[in-house]
Amino acid sequence: MVFEHDVLIIGAGLAGLRAGIEAKRKGVDVAILTKVYPVRSHTNAAQGGINASLDEGDSWESHAYDTVKGSDYLGDQDAIEILAQEAPSDIIELEHMGVIFNRDEEGRLGTRAFGGASHARTYFVADITGQALLHVGYEQSLKYKIPTYNEFFATSLIYEDGAVKGCVAIEMRTGELHVFKAKAVIIASGGVGRAFEPSTNALICTGDGMALAYRVGAPLMDMEMVQYHPTTLPSNGALLTEGARGEGAYLVNSNGDRFMSTYAPNMLELASRDVVSRSEQTEINAGRGIDGCVMLDCRHLGADLIHSKLRQIWELARDFSGVDLVTEPCPVRPGMHYIMGGIKANFNGQVKWGESAGQSVPGLYAIGETSCISIHGGNRLGANSLLELVVFGRRSGLHAAEYAMTQKHANVGESRAEIDRKKITALLERPQASDMVGKLRMELGDTMNQHVAVFRDEAGLKTAVAKVKELKQRYQGIGLQNKGKVFNTNLLSALELENMLDVAEVITESALYRKESRGAQFRTDYPERNDAEWLKHTLAFQTDSGPRLDALEVTITKWQPQKRTY
Ligand code: FUM
Repeated sequence: MVFEHDVLIIGAGLAGLRAGIEAKRKGVDVAILTKVYPVRSHTNAAQGGINASLDEGDSWESHAYDTVKGSDYLGDQDAIEILAQEAPSDIIELEHMGVIFNRDEEGRLGTRAFGGASHARTYFVADITGQALLHVGYEQSLKYKIPTYNEFFATSLIYEDGAVKGCVAIEMRTGELHVFKAKAVIIASGGVGRAFEPSTNALICTGDGMALAYRVGAPLMDMEMVQYHPTTLPSNGALLTEGARGEGAYLVNSNGDRFMSTYAPNMLELASRDVVSRSEQTEINAGRGIDGCVMLDCRHLGADLIHSKLRQIWELARDFSGVDLVTEPCPVRPGMHYIMGGIKANFNGQVKWGESAGQSVPGLYAIGETSCISIHGGNRLGANSLLELVVFGRRSGLHAAEYAMTQKHANVGESRAEIDRKKITALLERPQASDMVGKLRMELGDTMNQHVAVFRDEAGLKTAVAKVKELKQRYQGIGLQNKGKVFNTNLLSALELENMLDVAEVITESALYRKESRGAQFRTDYPERNDAEWLKHTLAFQTDSGPRLDALEVTITKWQPQKRTY
């Protein structure tokens, strides 16, 4: 079938929903296509909160400065200024839409402290903030009557005559491929966490949007910047929110010492995430860990606070580690959580490419974790990601709608769908092979977690590059056990794996390319930040022989790079 919309959004997390609402407010015909039901999107997993400088003693400049410093000066400061300036009104709007934020004793919106922030400016709904925001975003999309194509998986963008004109997608219920014609496409399909095992990310985070854009020529930027969150469970990688430390929890080593006093004497457990994760790993490597972990100690917070504000993590610790946070410390370790890099886009979500990535790709937008609008640079501050979804979701929805109003629907043919149909048929017809999707997926995840983690070096990164290339080769020979058309999740996993392999190749090559330590990229063979040579973004363009890497200037407005201490 052929479907037609003015603006098509791929992904129904908070960024996609917020973009859809804004485009609909402009009066254009919008639809959202998603590989899961909207309320199963990964926004659900965000726990601790959303940042804004609403407080009287706070300012957008302070929020922006903290974000720039947190980014290790790699964030583009023009975009960061917009994020911080527009945050307060977006939080108020969320509240008016129906988000029941926690209140303080006087009934005002309450805040908690978060890492790398000089002011307590994180607004929250217990430790289920993402879930609360996602559900309200979905309610709003229903109110605005935005149709969603649920359980449709985009296989390609339609790029013709110098512009993006839609996408091809497989309907999981029937196995049929459909053409979606659109005047503008917004990619909002999330990150690539599952290229690492374990990860805090949902199983659906497989870099799909990044791979789609990369294949039509859009560069992926700063992909080496992979965030390891300091408090994840060793058994399955589940997240225990930074909100616990925001409420006052301690990190201790095997000697019972609050070791963060050595690494971040002012901010302690609330230094930025890259600093805390590196400190933990240093303690563990020095033999002061316990079974590869340090301990998160919440006991002094008391049962009332834990059960009211940290209820979800209390349940996670109980269910997956057998620990009662009220009475016992919980083993935690750094775990893959977020990718700061993504599809290069500007602060209206317009995807950029060409010479110095200076031209827009007509009709193509990217927002949320799949994008790199460059507000996080080398390290994202906790609770800036939910904020990014609403600020740049809104901005891109508006821009895409205005762009769509100037366009006519193109006479897009079936040719792209035919290519995808042949590829999928060939995959289904291949005989079963010893290499199966799940096996390759686990080998990829293990490799990335071993060599592209908190500490990296040339030898390890070269091993990872070679392994990803080997996996790409072996992918050509995989066979599927399920040959059916209806809800073939085996096929879906294979398509996801292809996406993850392309994106993982960019991550490993980018990490090898950046010969310095900055933010989440700590190279033990280049342990210093080197502003003279590397105050630059990494751009990766697809070629037949793998990514071609280039560098791009960072936008500095007010804040020159300084030594970063917490
Ligand atoms: O720790 C957390 O609650 C995570 C928040 C975030 O990644 O923004």
